[in-house]
Amino acid sequence: MEWESVKDSWALANQKKIPCMGYGTWLLSGEEAVDSIKKAVRLGFRHIDTAAFYGNEEEVGKAVQQCQDEGIPRNQIFVTSKVWNDNRGYENTMASFKKTMERLKFQYLDLFLIHWPASENRFENWKELNAGTWRALEELYEAGKVEAIGVSNFKPHHMEALLETANIKPMVNQIEFHPGFWQKETVEYCKRQEILIEAWSPFGRGAVLEQELLKNLAKKYDCSTAQICLRWELQHGVLPLPKSSNEDRMKNNMQVFDFSLTEEDMKQIDEMPICGFSGEDPDQIEF
Ligand code: A2P
Repeated sequence: MEWESVKDSWALANQKKIPCMGYGTWLLSGEEAVDSIKKAVRLGFRHIDTAAFYGNEEEVGKAVQQCQDEGIPRNQIFVTSKVWNDNRGYENTMASFKKTMERLKFQYLDLFLIHWPASENRFENWKELNAGTWRALEELYEAGKVEAIGVSNFKPHHMEALLETANIKPMVNQIEFHPGFWQKETVEYCKRQEILIEAWSPFGRGAVLEQELLKNLAKKYDCSTAQICLRWELQHGVLPLPKSSNEDRMKNNMQVFDFSLTEEDMKQIDEMPICGFSGEDPDQIEF
């Protein structure tokens, strides 16, 4: 890995560049959201992750506009949003995207994702629903309104079903990924398909940060347990989306480019027992 900062990029399957770490915005709202995003961008983050469901797209748009006024152009900030579960299917997704763009006040979006797959336990027609949503994303991509498209929380069987009718392969799959829960099968599947994995909840909602193994590794590498998590994610070829509203912790999360974990330490983290799992299994969710 030759990166030196969070501004350095991966290339997606269509060659669009995506900054190697993103700033997560789940649970940020109102002025706090605008201020935190501006702080993150001033510090160097160039990748913001939001979703219709987060209820803060307007604030993300406002923060990006204000950063532009301070001299950081829109095209230097990568923004992702996602279509929520109550808007599945072609027509609904199109209408939902329009609203997303009205809230963001953007001319284009960098990356648009299906937030959760429709699953078999709730929908008999789950395959058709996901296919319809995906057709809308493909059309938005072909029209140049979004520069990359992908999915979130898809397991290999959701992806396989989608690929039966897809014309364009998803470029990204954003999943829960952190020490203690890293969905190896999905990661390996996506790597074979050249689909970039993004990690939501890179610290297992904070719970993982208290694990003895990670604390010991933090001592060894003279860094924080959060930095151990982020470094482990990056070395797995996964793009982490840390969220913090605290400036010192934002800075801490960005400083992971001056050390690397040994293969042995990577393996020890890989083998940690389940911990920090959100409990949100895409096949079982009720939302
Ligand atoms: P805070 O916003 O107060 O910094 P996850 O993304 O896995 O769901 O975890 C998010 C939690 O991790 C938040 O509560 C956030 O709290 C905390 N967090 C983010 N960065 C760090 C860090 N560098 N050190 C400790 N806690 C952090």
